[in-house]
Amino acid sequence: MSGCGVLINPKSEIRNRFDRGEWLTEVGCYNLFVTEPHAKLAVFPGSFDPFHVGHVAIVERALRIFPQVIVGVLQNTGKDSVFGADERAEMIREHYRDTPAVEVRSFSGLLVNFMQEMDATIIIRGMRAVSDFEYEFQMALMNRRLWPPVETVFLTPKEEVLYLSSRLVREVVALGGDVTGLVPDAVRERLEIWFRETNSPPG
Ligand code: PNS
Repeated sequence: MSGCGVLINPKSEIRNRFDRGEWLTEVGCYNLFVTEPHAKLAVFPGSFDPFHVGHVAIVERALRIFPQVIVGVLQNTGKDSVFGADERAEMIREHYRDTPAVEVRSFSGLLVNFMQEMDATIIIRGMRAVSDFEYEFQMALMNRRLWPPVETVFLTPKEEVLYLSSRLVREVVALGGDVTGLVPDAVRERLEIWFRETNSPPG
């Protein structure tokens, strides 16, 4: 029989059964590819200016698949960022201070170089809508072209906050709107300080 290749984790019970000779008689497959154990680490990169509850939901989902997630905060956003990279990373760190499975790091330059430094091959990205697709698809292919072992995993967002983006959060705060529930508390407090400072009369 051909064409029924199966991927078997070398540490799984299925593999033990294969070794005991039970697998072949039960399923009748002769092609066997033994995989490496799954990746232990994934990197969730972004500008995170600011980090919002949509990002929190993606980290949560990523942790259901990977035991450790590194949130990679891009330093040189080249955009009109509200917060500097250190401050963005600090806020996210504060949010995850009781979650050892999440580590927060800043990076500059190419993402694939950062991935290699972290000894990681999995990139996590959230895909909100069709409008995200082209940019995300190009980025995934470019990253793979730059470093072939890299794999991008797209996770679906939380439906309730599908409309949410960092740009909208910045805009609402700049116009005095309330973003409670849309960003972690640590982020909201700093956004409020930023609003007061940018709107207080000079002198
Ligand atoms: O939150 P963002 O702004 O959509 O995140 C974009 C990010 C940080 C993932 C992307 O801009 C990036 O990876 N920048 C690093 C520079 C790089 O590697 N560019 C080539 C990949 S296409």
